Amino acid sequence: MSAVTVRAAAKINLHLGVGRPRPDGFHPLVTVFHAVSLYDDVTVTPADDWQVTTHAAGHVDGAALPDAGDNIVDRAAAALARHHARPVTGRVEVHKSIPVAGGMAGGSADAAAALVALDRVWDLGTSDDDLLALAAELGSDVPFSLVGGTALGEGRGELLTPVADDGSWWWVVVRAAGDGLSTPAVYRRYDELRPDASPEPAPAGVPLAALETRDPELLANALHNDLQAAAVDLRPDLADTIATGEAAGALRGLVSGSGPTCVFLARDADHAREVAGELRDGHPTVLVAHGPVAGAHVVTVEAG
Ligand code: C5P
Repeated sequence: MSAVTVRAAAKINLHLGVGRPRPDGFHPLVTVFHAVSLYDDVTVTPADDWQVTTHAAGHVDGAALPDAGDNIVDRAAAALARHHARPVTGRVEVHKSIPVAGGMAGGSADAAAALVALDRVWDLGTSDDDLLALAAELGSDVPFSLVGGTALGEGRGELLTPVADDGSWWWVVVRAAGDGLSTPAVYRRYDELRPDASPEPAPAGVPLAALETRDPELLANALHNDLQAAAVDLRPDLADTIATGEAAGALRGLVSGSGPTCVFLARDADHAREVAGELRDGHPTVLVAHGPVAGAHVVTVEAG
């Protein structure tokens, strides 16, 4: 028996088109997911009991972590175990570097990593289709955390089509100080601000074409987030953060997903480090990341 560590990446939405809510309450999306190089690691060690321990990196707000037993990792384990009619066992360590409640799918990354790690430790050999279906039950962003890279997301975000993305895009990630934003609260505010929203989300043709050019100036112009106005309405300081990053030379800044993390596209790695240096003055958490990167994958298997 061995301990298995699986790594899963944060995501940025290069495009987030949001339609009027469906009868089930979810919003129809047309989104372009993009996995970037901020990672959570999930290590599972075989055991007879079940225990999840979470460790937060220095820049991650440990106080915002969910209570034990109330974690998406517990739900991922329960769903996989139910699927195979087996008990939930193992010692799980979650090492978090992705900002919590930040709009970067950190919880979804943990769920995806847990599915892959438990599948290995429990020796289940679950098919990709079944893993994707379990992931979709856990949350709209979890299937993308499994797949990674760059992908078109439709439905409520769970229906994925991989996108060829041969560019190398450099981002500055700024976690706003203070509390995170709750995704349902941002969607509710979106509904209040956009009662006339079309049932059809804004299409993603422009950003998909920009990705093909590998030209950061063109991608910068194509970035789009329908949730940005709602996130800024709930957290007006985000407008200042975006303005500061753009004044520092970023090609474009926008709110990541439902926020409050803001992301800035830079020309290249050096430019990203330069912009990050300028933003560090007023913001406690400023990170540099690149994309696209892989979805949830095994990084180590230790003999136990
Ligand atoms: O799927 P997930 O658990 O991540 O969704 C969290 C919440 O975000 C949902 O309960 C819903 O309020 C909102 N949401 C939505 N439309 C989506 C995705 C999420 O309204 N497409």
